[in-house]
Amino acid sequence: MSLTSPPVISAHQLTKSFGDNEPVVCGIDFDIEKGKCFGFLGPNGAGKTTTLRMIQGVSPISSGKLSVFGYELPKNGKKIRARLGIVPQDDNLDPDFTVIENLRMYGIYFGVPRDLLETRINALLEFMHLQDRARDKPEQLSGGMKRRLTIARALVNDPELIILDEPTTGLDPQVRHIIWAKLRELMTQGKSIVMTTHYMDEAERLCDELIIMDSGKILDQGSPANIVNRHVESHVVEVRGNFPSLTKNLKKINSVRLEKYGDTLFCYTNQVHDIVNYLASISGVHYFSRSCNLEDVFLTMTGRELRE
Ligand SMILES: Nc1ncnc2c1ncn2[C@@H]1O[C@H](COP(=O)(O)OP(=O)(O)OP(=O)(O)O)[C@@H](O)[C@H]1O
Ligand SMILES: [Mg+2]
Repeated sequence: MSLTSPPVISAHQLTKSFGDNEPVVCGIDFDIEKGKCFGFLGPNGAGKTTTLRMIQGVSPISSGKLSVFGYELPKNGKKIRARLGIVPQDDNLDPDFTVIENLRMYGIYFGVPRDLLETRINALLEFMHLQDRARDKPEQLSGGMKRRLTIARALVNDPELIILDEPTTGLDPQVRHIIWAKLRELMTQGKSIVMTTHYMDEAERLCDELIIMDSGKILDQGSPANIVNRHVESHVVEVRGNFPSLTKNLKKINSVRLEKYGDTLFCYTNQVHDIVNYLASISGVHYFSRSCNLEDVFLTMTGRELRE
């Protein structure tokens, strides 16, 4: 008998089209485990936000099956949303309310008892380092403060599942670290997290499981370490500059895979010393060697061209 709890989100052949256009989410399958952090990665337009909006029940699914907390959508949208905390891609704070009022309105909407609500709001303001800005309107806040307020607002109803669409885009490193620590703390409390990010270091730090998607389809799914091991070599040596003869010679070294982008040659390898020894013997070449990471996987799998 399996002791694993049922998935917090389950999607089967989940599809979304807008009007008569080609689907932007094309029959994807995934199960998201309770108490874990699950990340959707993919280039602009891959279908990440659309998928998250279907999970929230605010964008109707076109076909397939989608259930959250065991309840099927679209029927149970309201019941599901009461147990969710949402951080949308774009902040949608109420401009007419102060920081504390934005939090209070959300709590009242979700029926949080008044005393509990005030205690929770104070804790959230402290947690997100916003106590001194409680009486400010959103327009008086910096971008990072608005993001912290949006995350605090998502926690007012003490949600079981928190959905964050690019939670730290545009934030400085201090704020990102505060938010990461908070998200990890929430996971230790048994909360589940679903997020998107364009920061591969963020995905590597936070996510237990990832889906890499492109053009509405899943390219791969697994833990960050497994995905890295599956798709790229252990190391990459980045070589700057334009050296045609160097490229020719590097190609002769066994088990090296070369990718050129702009003025940089990426030499992927499991035998990094062979390449480094060769490059060290040539004067005037700028290079540096590092372990492969999710960014290499992402660029290898989804290409290096810009997306609209
Ligand atoms: N309301 C809409 N009407 C028509 N097309 C839409 C609508 N919302 C999204 N799309 C299209 O669906 C596709 C996926 O968009 P989505 O916002 O899900 O991408 P994303 O992966 O979140 O990208 P990004 O990283 O830029 O946020 C895009 O081609 C987009 O133009
Ligand atoms: Mg998006």
